[in-house]
Amino acid sequence: MAETLVLRGGRIVDVNGTRPADVIVAGGIVTAVGADLEAPAGATALDATGCVVAPGLVDLHTHLREPGREEAETVETGARAAALGGYTAVVAMPNTEPAVDSAAVVAQVQDLGRRAAVEVAVAGAITVGRRGERLTPMAEMAALGVHLFTDDGAGVQDAGLMRRALEYASGLGVVLAQHCEDNALAAGGQMHEGAWASRLGIPGQPAEAEELMVARDIALCRLTGAPVHFLHLSTAGSVALVRAAKAAGLPVTAEAAPHHFTLTDESVASYDPVFKVNPPLRGATDVEAVRAGLADGTLDAIATDHAPHPPEAKELPFDQAPPGMLGLETALALALSELALPVEAVLALLSWRPARIAGLGATQGGPVAAGRPANLCVIDPEARWVVDPARMASRSRNTPYAGRELTGRVRHTVAAGVAVVVDGEARR
Ligand code: DOR
Repeated sequence: MAETLVLRGGRIVDVNGTRPADVIVAGGIVTAVGADLEAPAGATALDATGCVVAPGLVDLHTHLREPGREEAETVETGARAAALGGYTAVVAMPNTEPAVDSAAVVAQVQDLGRRAAVEVAVAGAITVGRRGERLTPMAEMAALGVHLFTDDGAGVQDAGLMRRALEYASGLGVVLAQHCEDNALAAGGQMHEGAWASRLGIPGQPAEAEELMVARDIALCRLTGAPVHFLHLSTAGSVALVRAAKAAGLPVTAEAAPHHFTLTDESVASYDPVFKVNPPLRGATDVEAVRAGLADGTLDAIATDHAPHPPEAKELPFDQAPPGMLGLETALALALSELALPVEAVLALLSWRPARIAGLGATQGGPVAAGRPANLCVIDPEARWVVDPARMASRSRNTPYAGRELTGRVRHTVAAGVAVVVDGEARR
């Protein structure tokens, strides 16, 4: 049930800039924005003193694990984690069991999403079972509102099939998102191929396993004219390829995950599988390139690749443990703490640019203005806190940031007009 809320004493930061203002929310809509607004009768006041009031964050890359892997996460728990992280919308990845490769599974996840704390947009698979052999009925899934399609967790290996998928997608007005990994080159690699892999005796996968597919898909984008979104780019070479493609006017967009601008392959020296992720943590030069790409707009968005895994999976030996890390509850603070960018730039990367890529611009990431859907987050940019996995709302605990002190914390989240997080506590 939508509420009547007044957000008092904050500073709005949105696509139109920054200004101090109160915000009134009623019936799911922002109804007034201005100085010293009179609260409607019965309104709940949310204190925003010293805080930034922004459009809610939008995650392009969330693994909610439902259906099939509910021991790791559910739509409900993942959406709660998202709300605590300041998100008002997430795109649910299709590598579930079964995969989201038909209208029926899309409808199932959408149905779960309707009961969740934040908006859940569903991504569909490009190929049946994500096996890279046959295209899915994308038109049927697009008819249900699916805007992004990906085989994430795997890249589409066959260039001919990817070409056909791009032609099909552009006819439907939807976007393909690629997990860039050449299987033949990455085979057997458990971490980034480099000096640390040699020293630790862990087989590596080279940066080129990612870059070959980025280069190939840029070529296919040129051939077909269809837009391509690059998921979780992690290498200096990938960033350079996307920069050149954009300079050539091609319709490419790209994201990077927080762990790829905050951690290096040196972390793997602990042999702790919490640092195992795909694409793997890279070297310091790659981290610098990802940061530069985020700063200069080559990389359009920060996306979490929130990948929950239960303790029994992440406690396996490094080579047997599944790749993936939690992201939703730490992404904003990591970006504010580590990127040395103004808060406006961080929010562009986390809110309005990803909202557009996800096709959610009508409800998400918009300016904080009267008449707009009330998807908002209130951030205390100075608050310091220590990451404690035990306090996370995710059903899993596999964060690589346990014990790390971060600056910047979500105080309130308002999703579709409902205060789903108040004073840092989830209410749904
Ligand atoms: O580390 C990862 N985990 N990378 C992926 O692409 C998939 C994800 C998962 O689903 O666990």
